[in-house]
Amino acid sequence: MVFKDNFRDLGFGVGLRRQHYADVTEYRATVDWFEIISENFMVRGGRPLAVLEKVRETHPIAMHGVSLSIGSADPLNRDYLMTLRTMARQFEPAWISDHLCWTGVGGHNLHDLLPLPYTDEAVRYVARRVRQVQDFLEQPILVENVSSYMTFRASAMEEWEFLSAVAEESDCGILLDINNIFVNAFNHQFDALRYIDSVTSERVVQFHMAGHSDHGTHLLDTHDHPIREEVWQLYEHAVRRFGLTATLIEWDDNIPEFETLARIAPEARDRATRVLRMTSRTGY
Ligand SMILES: [Fe+2]
Repeated sequence: MVFKDNFRDLGFGVGLRRQHYADVTEYRATVDWFEIISENFMVRGGRPLAVLEKVRETHPIAMHGVSLSIGSADPLNRDYLMTLRTMARQFEPAWISDHLCWTGVGGHNLHDLLPLPYTDEAVRYVARRVRQVQDFLEQPILVENVSSYMTFRASAMEEWEFLSAVAEESDCGILLDINNIFVNAFNHQFDALRYIDSVTSERVVQFHMAGHSDHGTHLLDTHDHPIREEVWQLYEHAVRRFGLTATLIEWDDNIPEFETLARIAPEARDRATRVLRMTSRTGY
């Protein structure tokens, strides 16, 4: 059995955002599942938890964090991990994910998802920490590729090799953000298709799709625009390689009405099923 078979395919979902709390319990026929930002629900009682309880009565959820800082030189934050474990026991997410990055050092939080040098030493270091987190949470986690605006001279491998090596060495899953691949391919001048064709396929459990902003010389991963056609094309390529994979639409700024956001999930479904139908016909 390959790693990703430990997880069910949740279908096509959207991120649960505060602006939509009033809508999600009413209108969600087209959304298969929801992803929550774990930190937004690390509160005692109140509306967020009430909404989450209601949502999970009818839909699977996944917990997506932004504070694990798995690549930091600081020790892992035990209080944060304990809160995460308590939440996971209460809300029973289909899985827990966070980013392959660091967010601070020396106790300072930089509130950004910062890239790592792609070296063997960093693979061993991060993989050891992922294993510690998985042991503590008593379940495998997914790590997500981040967008970046700088690279390290020390890097000795490609980004996709680093992501795959960390996942293999720590025995964790991959949340593949297709938009982040597109953004990084432009910013760092590599071939996005090669990334998708090279990353270890047995560990890709989930996709992220989002919009970005184009600043001419560089792309910014802002999650505030509709998904560009080029990113959809990349998504279709990923579906050809990885097959049907749980897909999540992220939108975090200039957030549209829930109805508009919720329509993107079936668009992803339509594209994925069309691509797979063509694939089986042509034997791609
Ligand atoms: Fe993402």
